[in-house]
Amino acid sequence: MSLRFIYKLLLVFIGIYILFTLTDNYILDHQASFFLEQKINLRDSFRLPVWLDVMYVHVFVACLATLSGAVNFSRGLAWQKRKFHRINGYIYVVSVILVSLTSGYLAPYATGGKLVSVPFNMVNLFWPIITIVAIIHAKKGRLDKHWQWMIRSYVFCFTNMFIHLISSVLYQTGVDYTRSYTIGVYGSIIVNVAIAEAIILYLRSRKSS
Ligand code: HEM
Repeated sequence: MSLRFIYKLLLVFIGIYILFTLTDNYILDHQASFFLEQKINLRDSFRLPVWLDVMYVHVFVACLATLSGAVNFSRGLAWQKRKFHRINGYIYVVSVILVSLTSGYLAPYATGGKLVSVPFNMVNLFWPIITIVAIIHAKKGRLDKHWQWMIRSYVFCFTNMFIHLISSVLYQTGVDYTRSYTIGVYGSIIVNVAIAEAIILYLRSRKSS
């Protein structure tokens, strides 16, 4: 299978994922009711209207990061429309920073408490750092490294998807919601890192063969 074909398939999948996320959060369940019902022992400072507003911004910038990141992996665009690639790249960086900032507000109220807010905050710290490392490589003309670090950064756009995939499988098999969600958060970070390294290895092996 050619890389171009795999990329096109991924674009279709990502497009569907973004549409699903927007519909699910803004139309179908725009009060995040089931998710909120599972929260126990919430801090006194929790304010539902503020939480919901931050969550809506969080979802919007997350989808923007997912879309702008996906488009920027097009090698054709990166070579032929450099200005677009650069502007879209900055849209991605700003979106990543905004996802992390909004997540910084949401994390202290995370389902599962401190055990979950700590890994969330680690991602809040490392995701922007990884993204900035990728930009520095681009600025220094190290395009292979730029590509690799952008892959390491981009996989974090699927954090929420993997959290829900892992936690819903566990929840269906009888594990309680809080524990399923906690395992989902840790699991998603491991899966993100593993997928990024597997893609980088695969691309390296294709290049050398
Ligand atoms: C880029 C793709 C992402 C999307 C589409 C997304 C979407 C969402 C949504 C819909 C929620 C509400 C709860 C739920 O239904 O899960 C949420 C909560 C949250 N997200 Fe994200 N998110 C993304 C990435 C991230 C990343 C990278 C972080 C960084 C750590 C993060 C941190 C959080 C936190 C802390 C919460 C609150 C969890 C809780 O209350 O238990 N998200 N996100």
